[in-house]
Amino acid sequence: MSEADTDLMELAKRRGFFFQASEAYGGVAGFYVYGPQGATLKSNVEDAWRDRYVTREGHMEIDAPTVMPEPVFEASGHLDTFDDMIVECPSCGEPHRADHLVEGATDIADAEALPIPDVEALIADHDIACPACGEPLAGVDVTDFNLMFETAIGPGSSQAGYLRPETAQGIFVEFSRLKEYARNQLPFGVAQVGRAYRNEISPRRGLIRVREFTQAELEHFVDPEADEPPLERVADVEVPLYSASAQDGDGGIETMTVGEAVERNVVTSDWVAFYLGLSKQFYERIGVDMDRFRYRQHLPGELAHYASDCWDAEAEIDGNWIEITGFAYRGDYDLSKHAKYADADFTVFQQYDDPVTVERAVVDPDMSVLGPEFGGAAGDVAAELDRMAAAGEGDFDADPIPVTVDGETYDVPGDAVDHRVEEVTEAGEHVTPHVVEPSFGVDRLVATVLDHALRTDEVDGEQRSYLALPPEMAPTTVGVFPLMTKDGMDERAKDLASTLRQTGLSVVYDDSGAIGRRYRRQDEVGTPYGVTVDYETLEEDTVTLRERDSTDQVRLPVADLAAAIANLRTG
Ligand code: GAP
Repeated sequence: MSEADTDLMELAKRRGFFFQASEAYGGVAGFYVYGPQGATLKSNVEDAWRDRYVTREGHMEIDAPTVMPEPVFEASGHLDTFDDMIVECPSCGEPHRADHLVEGATDIADAEALPIPDVEALIADHDIACPACGEPLAGVDVTDFNLMFETAIGPGSSQAGYLRPETAQGIFVEFSRLKEYARNQLPFGVAQVGRAYRNEISPRRGLIRVREFTQAELEHFVDPEADEPPLERVADVEVPLYSASAQDGDGGIETMTVGEAVERNVVTSDWVAFYLGLSKQFYERIGVDMDRFRYRQHLPGELAHYASDCWDAEAEIDGNWIEITGFAYRGDYDLSKHAKYADADFTVFQQYDDPVTVERAVVDPDMSVLGPEFGGAAGDVAAELDRMAAAGEGDFDADPIPVTVDGETYDVPGDAVDHRVEEVTEAGEHVTPHVVEPSFGVDRLVATVLDHALRTDEVDGEQRSYLALPPEMAPTTVGVFPLMTKDGMDERAKDLASTLRQTGLSVVYDDSGAIGRRYRRQDEVGTPYGVTVDYETLEEDTVTLRERDSTDQVRLPVADLAAAIANLRTG
């Protein structure tokens, strides 16, 4: 851990932002407690997220369980593919992520995408040693390790369940009900802010890689044929893009407007481009330093099992680029999978403006399994043909008719298909929506906001460290301080703190120690304003209002204080 990392961890622990959980029992890696400052900072970040992606975009929010039954994750693909490569040191037993070891020893940026034998070979070729004990790892097996936490639901012959590794599945699984709330009309978005769990092989760097964390995810369901994003709203927003081709060659970050990124096809999905623009404004609002921020496109081998195009928002923390959000175009992957595994309807019926008349082949009722082009739903055609043969239905010796269903072609007995064509009027069609997903890691946002806010300077000849948090994010908005605890100044300050609290501001009262120290204490936790009650307050009903970053002070009437702070806070 670097010096800057250590400073932040020390500040976080000492001032109640976050600290390791269960320390009384030795602590467990990858689990953190947010203390009084941190819990409020985190909920301020979440509130700003809700304001941006739910309220202002008109989407809905749900709150689904964190434990879900096994079939959900069979369908989603997590059971089969949500793995990291693990190598366990034969000498000390310490587990490591094999791809991270390779990335640390080579110039390969995405070792995660390599097949296991290649990773094993790289470990041997580069003489990679165990970071814990220094013994060589050459010849040690690399295996897949599934990151989900398994649990048993209920007693006895219990049902297998898993702690969700992403909040998204809680939205997809409930799609049928959610579409009703959206009155069966695309597009609509469903958001969720909640815990996700991953049994990370090597949790590290404080909040950056933990085993229990909070995601803020939006699943935006769109009709791929008909719905366009409102690109004009963000066309002029400048975004720093680090494209796959730039990573492949010698290119670097290129800043351009969202409009230009779409026109030049740098971002291939218009929906993803829309969210890159919208989200840049969100990051600025919560205090991410735009000089230490970029959008990086996934390289082809890096794409998640469900994604066809993906960009990450990355923030620089102490020399490393950290993924803080993933923006993925998930297509119809999730809804189609759940439709298949749950054998349920995950479509939206899209009404045509005017009904259309189409010609359709008339089918033998028994052949209704043969897919939409024959009037029925696609099903297990091979099984149906076996059944027919066993039941003696259909003339299998007659000229077969090739029938293609879901990309497979089957020889269907000619007499099973009626070649007449009938005209039918259709009012609309069933559409499986595509999903655009901005997926934020709240803990990484908090870590970034803290890291980017940490400053040091000199005030009155003394070194000071402070958090230049945007006032809206600061856990406390105002510190109220009596100059001295005599002549009624403390009583007056307590009254004032209470009055300010009634206006909805978050206020601390502090009368212990010299006034300079009290300012420093609040500077260190990012409190943007300090109010001092002194003799003039008692005589003229005025106070001084101090701003954290500049340390400038102004005197103003007590009667104007709440409005002045509210104005400053909202900019
Ligand atoms: N539903 C898509 C999804 O979960 P992801 O890229 O795996 O995508 C989204 O995760 C975000 O969740 C990441 O950008 C990151 O901010 C956060 N995240 C993922 N794993 C994490 C971990 N172990 N600790 C902290 N945050 C994590």
